Amino acid sequence: MVRLIFLGPPGAGKGTQALVLAQAHSIPHISTGDILRAAVAQKTELGQKAQSYMDKGELVPDQLILDMVRERLGQSDAAQGWILDGFPRTVVQATFLDQLLQEINQSCDGVVNFEVPDEVLVARLLGRGRKDDNEDVIRHRLEVYHQQTAPLIDFYRDRQQLFALDGNQSVDQVREALEQIVQSHSLAT
Ligand code: AP5
Ligand code: MG
Repeated sequence: MVRLIFLGPPGAGKGTQALVLAQAHSIPHISTGDILRAAVAQKTELGQKAQSYMDKGELVPDQLILDMVRERLGQSDAAQGWILDGFPRTVVQATFLDQLLQEINQSCDGVVNFEVPDEVLVARLLGRGRKDDNEDVIRHRLEVYHQQTAPLIDFYRDRQQLFALDGNQSVDQVREALEQIVQSHSLAT
């Protein structure tokens, strides 16, 4: 069983690594960004509400995200474990997650914090070219990250749940370092 949160700035490699680790453990990779982009593409009510925030690089309001995560973690595949990528992203979301996990009798095994310098992130994202990957929006996403999401580093460190991961290495090296964290702390049981 693996239940992990991937924390880190935009472009840190959370999605890249979550895909591999989730496959290796046959658990869902739950990316709130991916769920939102699918909702935008399908023009659902959620997608229509979320789109303008995403285009600007702002956080989508907590309430929309919380309903979405509650629904996703309630699906049957999530009973086998999960990797949460891009959630929680505010202290409000983290507090909600605590309550939700308690309600559904689950717990989180750890929080992996992907560490990558800002300038490396900007270069990576400019190279990717997603709709929100233009320089102004990237810089704004980084600002939002530092203001609203980075406080979660202390939040989880204080609870001794935080594992630092040097994300400024090749994809393969990051994968190996992540596997090392999972094994050495027995996060996969
Ligand atoms: P989201 O989809 O989460 O995007 P993000 O935060 O901008 O993060 P990224 O997906 O860009 O980064 P990543 O760490 O996954 O990097 P990746 O592996 O792709 O959110 C998008 C928007 O949705 C938000 O702005 C917000 O509006 C909304 N949203 C989502 N969740 C929300 C929430 N909880 N609350 C409120 N709003 C929310 O890698 C990036 C690039 O780098 C790729 O090209 C990749 O190939 C490359 N790369 C990866 N690893 C390496 C490496 N080691 N070396 C070199 N290149 C690498
Ligand atoms: Mg991502």
